[in-house]
Amino acid sequence: MRIDLAFATGERDPAEFAGKTVVVIDVLRASSTILTALANGCPEVIPVAEPKEAFALAEKYGRDQVLLGGEREARKIRGFDLGNSPDEYGKEVVAGKKLIFTTTNGAKAFLEAAGAAEILVGAFLNISRVCSYLKKEEREIFLFCAGRKGRLALEDLFCAGMIIDNLIFAAKDESVVELTDPARAGMLAYRQIAGMGPVVVALTQTDHGRYLASLGMASDLRYCGQVDLLPVLARLEAGGIILAAEED
Ligand code: MLT
Repeated sequence: MRIDLAFATGERDPAEFAGKTVVVIDVLRASSTILTALANGCPEVIPVAEPKEAFALAEKYGRDQVLLGGEREARKIRGFDLGNSPDEYGKEVVAGKKLIFTTTNGAKAFLEAAGAAEILVGAFLNISRVCSYLKKEEREIFLFCAGRKGRLALEDLFCAGMIIDNLIFAAKDESVVELTDPARAGMLAYRQIAGMGPVVVALTQTDHGRYLASLGMASDLRYCGQVDLLPVLARLEAGGIILAAEED
């Protein structure tokens, strides 16, 4: 098993994803919000780069047939139905509604990875489910941390490192898991941070965690820090993110 890792969007040539299984990790908050929407009955999340594309696509589907969700600077976009707080994506809001979704980093990561063999959604919320799937994976695994405007976001690296640590544990023999230097850095960061307390504490100590808290969104950190709350597997297929079958 070989594992590579990117710290942020814009870092790799998209051609590098070809033939690989990519896991897009944006703990705060795109991955967590997408998983929440799907677990609550949203049939499909369509990531787009810009709000104007979201509006155009909504017109195509019929504006009242879809929801527009996402953020800029962590705030809801003017004219959108929903922001990027997972608590806005309850069953009563999203069940049966397609979601067109644009966020600064997470949505961008899905679009950059579009040429991969397979693209999964990763977060603390579904981490064990992702790991059990990856354990059987024969393709190279690429953990794509969405980061923050082209830079490392520690919460994403922490989550990626936890996935790596899990896969090494499952393999029983560390030497059968080949890690690139960025992947090893992720694993070492995880092992260091994990000793410091629960995930949610680590999230409060990150740049983006502090920023969200400063906007009154600290409850999102508590939510996104819950390990295995939503044991679902979600993948991007033909431009839309959908839940995978239970047996996957
Ligand atoms: C993103 O994709 O950039 C984020 O999820 C930012 C956020 O809303 O917290």
